[in-house]
Amino acid sequence: MLDITNQPKRPLVAASILSADFGRMAEECRDVLGRGADLLHVDVMDGHFVPNLTMGQDMIRGLRRNLPDVFLDVHLMVERPQEYVKSFAEAGANLFSFHLEVCRPARPDGVDARELIRAIRDAGMLPGMVVNPPTPADGLLPFLDDLALVLVMSVYPGRSGQSFIPDVLPKLELLRQHARPTMRLEIDGGVNLQTVSRAVAAGADTLVTASALFGARDRKAVVDAMHNA
Ligand code: DX5
Ligand code: ZN
Repeated sequence: MLDITNQPKRPLVAASILSADFGRMAEECRDVLGRGADLLHVDVMDGHFVPNLTMGQDMIRGLRRNLPDVFLDVHLMVERPQEYVKSFAEAGANLFSFHLEVCRPARPDGVDARELIRAIRDAGMLPGMVVNPPTPADGLLPFLDDLALVLVMSVYPGRSGQSFIPDVLPKLELLRQHARPTMRLEIDGGVNLQTVSRAVAAGADTLVTASALFGARDRKAVVDAMHNA
């Protein structure tokens, strides 16, 4: 099992299964892992925080059963992430990331981020927090010491295959300045062979990729190029 709490020597490639063939999911995952992807990124959407619906705990359970050693990075695009901590931990998730936009004070009836971080750790997972393109990163600064990973969205969440938004790059720079070296800084959305070097130069060390990887004729070449970005 990958230990993301160690500082990586090269960027980690997180294969986002949203662009995999869902009818052949385990096979698709084995394929990208065999071509060098470091971990799997699983996008959970509830139809409220974003309009789309994707997958949930049963997908995590199925992946864990078929791939006992894979690191599962779960990105929750849901309104009430606090309701799913226990069930995702039991299903086999390793990292549980929730959006700053569903926390207080941005949302008065939202969750308390510090309490949720503690609950995630108590359940045996690593905690991560996510910011959408229009949300400033400052709201994350008080939590950086307690987080294993921060995810900066470089598209509006909801689906794969969108174009990278370069305006988010200064957020990576700010977060990298304030974070301890072992905190992972992940970028998600429109990461491909044209955009990856800018993300890495700005401080990203964990690269989520869905369409650029699963849609490639030569998946290994994509992974290799991202590792060397
Ligand atoms: C978008 C998801 C992403 C998405 C990325 O809401 O969070 O993980 O799968 O897709 P690409 O890499 O195609 O932009
Ligand atoms: Zn994602």
